[in-house]
Amino acid sequence: MKALTQILTEKLSAAFEACGYSAELGTVVTSDRPDLCQFQCNGAFAGAKLYKKAPRMIAQEAANKLADDDSFAKIEVVGAGFINMDVSDKLLLSYVKDVLSDENLGIPQAEKPETIVLDYGGPNVAKPLHIGHLRSAVIGESLKRLAAATGRKTIADVHLGDWGLQIGLVIAELKERHPDWECFKEGFDPASFSGMPLTVDELNEVYPFASAKSKENDEFKAKAKAVTAELQKGAPAYIALWKEIIKISVADIKSNYDKLNVSFDYWYGESDAEKFVPELLDILNSKGLMYESQGAMVVDVAEDSDKVTIPPVIIKKSDDSNIYATTDLATIIQRTKEWKPDMIWYVVDSRQSLHFTQVFRCAKKANIVSDECSLEHLGFGTMNGTDGKPYKTREGGVMRLEVLYDMVYDYAKGMVDKSTHSAEEDKADIARRVAVAAIKFGDLINHRAKDYIFDLDKFMAAEGKTGSFLLYSVARVNSILNKTGGSDCFDSAEIYSDSERAMLLGIAMSGEAFGLAFRDRAPNIVCENAYKLAELFAKFYHENHIVDEPDENKKRAWINICAAVKTMLEKHLDILGIETVELF
Ligand code: ARG
Repeated sequence: MKALTQILTEKLSAAFEACGYSAELGTVVTSDRPDLCQFQCNGAFAGAKLYKKAPRMIAQEAANKLADDDSFAKIEVVGAGFINMDVSDKLLLSYVKDVLSDENLGIPQAEKPETIVLDYGGPNVAKPLHIGHLRSAVIGESLKRLAAATGRKTIADVHLGDWGLQIGLVIAELKERHPDWECFKEGFDPASFSGMPLTVDELNEVYPFASAKSKENDEFKAKAKAVTAELQKGAPAYIALWKEIIKISVADIKSNYDKLNVSFDYWYGESDAEKFVPELLDILNSKGLMYESQGAMVVDVAEDSDKVTIPPVIIKKSDDSNIYATTDLATIIQRTKEWKPDMIWYVVDSRQSLHFTQVFRCAKKANIVSDECSLEHLGFGTMNGTDGKPYKTREGGVMRLEVLYDMVYDYAKGMVDKSTHSAEEDKADIARRVAVAAIKFGDLINHRAKDYIFDLDKFMAAEGKTGSFLLYSVARVNSILNKTGGSDCFDSAEIYSDSERAMLLGIAMSGEAFGLAFRDRAPNIVCENAYKLAELFAKFYHENHIVDEPDENKKRAWINICAAVKTMLEKHLDILGIETVELF
C-alpha cells in the first residue's frame, strides 16, 4: 500500500501542476516541527529558482487549490513559503484502518524483490562463542527479518569458521591428552569410528589452553600447524575427528543461538568453500590478476581514488595454505552459483573493514560476481563495559556468550520472581524473554557502527529506551484488551483527543520507518520508532481512562487504538527478534 507521505505528495504534486508548475515541487515530508504541523512541503523554494517568482506566492497558489480537500484538517503557507499541513481525522482513521488490514501492515514492499544473502554469526568451531559474536548474531538476525518484512528474499548463512588453525590446535592438544583414543592409533579405520568421549566442556576448555600453549611452546605450535595442513589435505583420522568436533561444537552453538531467537537457513562452513578454491585460482590466473610477491600469491586491489593505501590481497601464503580472504572469495563463487544473490550483506566487526574492501574489490575485478550484485560490509562497533573499554570478565578475560546470557537471565528471573502477575510455571520462560529483550534492545538501539556500553541496570530499567519498557508497554495494552474484551476490527469514526491523534499518526507512519531502516540497514530506526509508539501510548493511556469510560463510542475507539498499538509494537519487536510477554 502507499505510504501516507506518498498520498500527500500526489495531492500536492497535482496542485502544483494545476498551477502550471512542475509536479516535482510537491514532495511532502514529515514535519521537522511536529509542534506546528504534521507534514510539510518545501517545494516552493525550488520553484522560486525555476520560475523566478517569490516562493510564498507559488506556495499559496498550490495551497489554495487544496483548500476544500477534505484530506486536510489544515493546509497553510508560513514563513517565506513553507506549506504546513495536518491530515484530517477522516483520512487518518481510514489510513490506519487500511494499514491494519494490509498483510504487511503498511510496510513498503520492494518493487523488484531482491535476493539477499546475509552472512552473520560467524562462530568458530571449537572456540566457545564469546560476546564478540553477540553483536553479529543480534544485528544480523534483525536485518534478515527487516529485509523479509520489506518483501525481499533472504538467505541466512552462518559461515562457520571450521577450517583454520584452531582445529589443528585442538586436535594436537587432544592427541597429547588422549593418545589412547581409537582415532590416534595406527591402522585406524574411519568406517568403524564410533566417536570419542569428548564433552562440550572439555572442548570449550581445550582451545584457549592449546592456543596459550602454542604461544610459548614452538614445538607444539609446529605440531598444530602440521595437523592443520594434514587435515586440509584430507587425512582420514583427522577428518573423522574433525567431524565429531564439529558435531559437538555446532550443537552447543545452536543451543546458544536458540536462546537468543537467532537462526540460519544454512550452516555452511569455511571448509565448504574449499572445493571452489581451484576455480578461484584458475580465474585469477587466467585473467592475469595474481602474481608472486615475497613468496606469496597476491592480487592488487588499490584504486586511484584511495586516500589510504589498500595493500594487495594475499591469496596464497608461502606455505601454500589458504587464508581468510581466499575462503571468502571462494565462498562468493559458491553463493553466486547456488543462490544468484542481488546482494550479500556481511554483518561483521568494523575492524575487519580492510579485509572486506580487499575481498570485494578482488571479487569485482575477477568478475566472480556480477557488477550489479552489491557486496556490503555492514560493520559494527564494540560492546564496552561501564569503564568504556571492551567488555571483559571480572578476571579480565573474554566473556563467553553463555556466561553473559546466564547473568542477564538471572537478573531477569530475580525481577520476574517478584511479580505477582504471572503464574509460577511461566516465570522461567518470561525471564528468558525479558533477558533477550534487554540484550537485544540494549544493542540494537545504538546505530550498529557505534560502540556501546553494556550496562545491565540500565538495560533492565522499566523506563527509557529499554527492552523492558517495550515489553511492559505491550503487557499493559494486553491487560486493557483482556479487561475490555478487545477489538477485532478497526471501525473508529471519530478522534476524541490530541494524544489519540498523535498515537494514530505514529501508527500510520510506522511503515515508513521500516522503509528507512531497510534503506540504511539500520535496525536502530525500528527501535526508535517502537520506543516512540510506546511513549505515545503511555501518554494516551495516562490521559484517557479507557476501562471505565462510560461513553460507548469513545471507549470503542480507544480499545481499537489499543489493539492497533499491540499489533504494531509486536511487529516492531518481532523484526528486532524479541518475543513479547502477555503479562509482566
Ligand atoms: N569467523 C570470523 C571471526 O570470528 C567471522 C566470519 C565473518 N564472515 C565472513 N564471511 N568473513 O572473526
